[in-house]
Amino acid sequence: MTAEAIDLEHLASEAQAGLASATDEAALQAWHVMYLGRSQGRLTAVLRTLGGLPVEERKRVGAEANALKQQLEAAFETRREELQGAALAETVEQGWLDVTLPGRAKKIGRLHPITQTLRDMLGIFQRMGFSVVEGPEVEEDYYNFQALRIPEDHPARDMQDTLYIEQAKGRTATPLLLRTHTSPNQARFMETHQPPIRIAVPGRVYRYEATDATREWMFTQIELLAVDEGLSMADLKGTLFELAKGLFGQERRIRFRCDYFPFVEPGVDMAIDCFICGGKGCKTCRGEGWIEVLGAGMVHPEILSNMGYDAERYTGFAAGIGAERIALLRYGVDDIRLFYQNDLRFLRQF
Ligand code: FA5
Repeated sequence: MTAEAIDLEHLASEAQAGLASATDEAALQAWHVMYLGRSQGRLTAVLRTLGGLPVEERKRVGAEANALKQQLEAAFETRREELQGAALAETVEQGWLDVTLPGRAKKIGRLHPITQTLRDMLGIFQRMGFSVVEGPEVEEDYYNFQALRIPEDHPARDMQDTLYIEQAKGRTATPLLLRTHTSPNQARFMETHQPPIRIAVPGRVYRYEATDATREWMFTQIELLAVDEGLSMADLKGTLFELAKGLFGQERRIRFRCDYFPFVEPGVDMAIDCFICGGKGCKTCRGEGWIEVLGAGMVHPEILSNMGYDAERYTGFAAGIGAERIALLRYGVDDIRLFYQNDLRFLRQF
């Protein structure tokens, strides 16, 4: 037997004895450093000397030393589990740990209140026969403005300023921008489809906006578009009444007023009575007693013709609904900015 083999046997029995006498985590760690530690471990030192041995001996001693290393690592883990088990049993025995206490429940995530509101609204529209489609957030000036009868110098652009996106010259015929409303999807969809059309288009929109309790610079709209033979304002109002009833029940009051949008004729806005002051006027409704939730109207005949439809035969209605404004009313939240501050104390309430 070689000197190294004797050393290994000795080392093995000493290490086993040392492990058995380690009775806490600190002693266990000290044992590990002494035998298996990377810089000063005794077995590590044996492994380091292998390079200087003759080939045959190196193979044999190397195999034995590596086997011992694995054995000691396994023994270390077993001893550790034994000690932890014993410590736990002692803790329970002494009454420090009540294992009958209920565990801590895992926190489950949930949908953002605006996503919930969007889904509820889309559900109402789907039950009325509308299909859900989507369009791009980075939009062409053409679809966002020009196709909607808002040429470059039109004053309606002032109310919807936004971020423009630099692009290589000539990639699209008109500049790219962050869309200011979901209405560009009217032209996008009509270009490639024939009536009858019934679509609902949800999505984020962006505006240069002085924010306040009911105005954000990024918010969400649902665009509604229907084109068919014989559609009238009565169909538009009926559809929007269904939405209001589905969301708020019969109690809330609804108001339609004339409004101007270059792409509809006639145009209206719909407001719902303020849930905070009941219509008297307060900070949330900015003293008006009403909160405007959507703009709507009959699709301008010129747009129908531009899309290649026979405007004598077909009529259409469209609406752009603000999802955050609906959510304010639904949940009784008095400031729209709360929705996007990512404060979990607020979000967990929905
Ligand atoms: C529009 O965006 C038109 N595209 C709506 C439309 C569509 C009219 C189809 C006719 C036909 P307006 O800028 O009014 O219109 O916005 C529509 C709705 O979006 C508002 O009623 C409101 O609910 C919401 N909204 C507008 N600005 C903000 C804002 N800064 N923050 C939160 N919601 C807003």
